[in-house]
Amino acid sequence: MARSEAVNFMRETPLFSRLSERELQALLRTSREKTFEAGSKIVREGETGGLGFYLILDGQVEVRKGNRSLAKLGAGEFFGEMALLQEDAPRSADVVALEETRCVMLTRWDLRGLIGAHPDIALKMLAALARRLSDTNKALSE
Ligand code: CMP
Repeated sequence: MARSEAVNFMRETPLFSRLSERELQALLRTSREKTFEAGSKIVREGETGGLGFYLILDGQVEVRKGNRSLAKLGAGEFFGEMALLQEDAPRSADVVALEETRCVMLTRWDLRGLIGAHPDIALKMLAALARRLSDTNKALSE
């Protein structure tokens, strides 16, 4: 995706909607875009080190714990925040591409810098975490 296209996409993403054009440009300069083939494991449960935060540009992923599906996430949604927010925590689940999936990957430092400048990002992430926890609790009681 061209950088201007990625900037437009991220501006439409609730998490980053308050960032200025300049901030988005700067963010995209330090981030990496990567395409994952269907079936590839993007994040492996238990892994530590080289941690990144992923925003899905297009495609779909599944969060899995063993054979259990915890969630499916698509364009505009994110994953990989849990290990970044806790100090040195291992990845809590596998994340597998269900189809060809393109992501923007941010480092822990980029994400922390962003949250420092835009605390609303932390609030939005908390809201998403609460939603996911509540969905998982619901699924467990079914
Ligand atoms: P992290 O632990 O870094 O790596 C695995 C990711 O899967 C995790 O961050 C979350 O982004 C996501 N994840 C883990 N558990 C759930 C869940 N119960 N529902 C939705 N997403 C989850």
